[in-house]
Amino acid sequence: MAELLGIANDPTVSFSKLTQVISRDQALTLRMLTVANSPYYGCSRRIDSVRSAIAVLGTRQVQNIASAMALAPAFESQHGPRLWQHGLTTAVWTKHIVRALGVPPLDYVFTAGLLHDIGVVLLLGNAPEAENACMDQAEKEQRPLADVEREHLGTDHAYIGARACSNWKLPERLAELVGDHHVSGEHDALDLKVLHAANALAKLCDSPNPGPGGPGWEATLEVLERLDFSEEEAVELLTARGDVVAEASSFG
Ligand SMILES: [Fe+2]
Ligand SMILES: [Fe+2]
Repeated sequence: MAELLGIANDPTVSFSKLTQVISRDQALTLRMLTVANSPYYGCSRRIDSVRSAIAVLGTRQVQNIASAMALAPAFESQHGPRLWQHGLTTAVWTKHIVRALGVPPLDYVFTAGLLHDIGVVLLLGNAPEAENACMDQAEKEQRPLADVEREHLGTDHAYIGARACSNWKLPERLAELVGDHHVSGEHDALDLKVLHAANALAKLCDSPNPGPGGPGWEATLEVLERLDFSEEEAVELLTARGDVVAEASSFG
């Protein structure tokens, strides 16, 4: 997993290196071809090799798929599927936000979206009773989970997640993004602002009424305004919701 994650997050990776690492693993190749041929990508011709997947989808999208494949097993636990779905939706939102901003793709921010709440999975694995109690309390009191965790555990899932990224030898910036996903301020870097906005939009997508006036809308708008989105632009962005959910489910 470490090698695949490294390749998936190396902005300078070559076409041949990417092909080589994926092709070496049969299960991975099969998975890559299944995703690349999913209706979401709507390719007119069948993609039957890793080389053509990269040629058709582009290096960056293949890296995103590889990142998701490398990380999916880390989310296999009791609350894993829900957290994995949230990570996928957050990751896909980062792409839409970057596109709407009209800036070039940002390194690591897709993987940061996938991984940002990995600390919750790790805490559930290591201290299930304590973390479940924190999750229940946060839900009941409608407070950020990280705040409740710090009160009861003396640490939070963002810190634990960032530590895990460092242990997996992921790029330092990726670990920082995961570590700061609950800390926000005026002077945040663009990649962190994008992650905050994607996380907020992913949470909003869970709401039955995600638009203006609905629960969570004001908080989401506040994060989007930090990226200079107007309210109309935020509403416009939200129309991508169906696409985001479809793409997130194409990753399986
Ligand atoms: Fe979080
Ligand atoms: Fe989150």
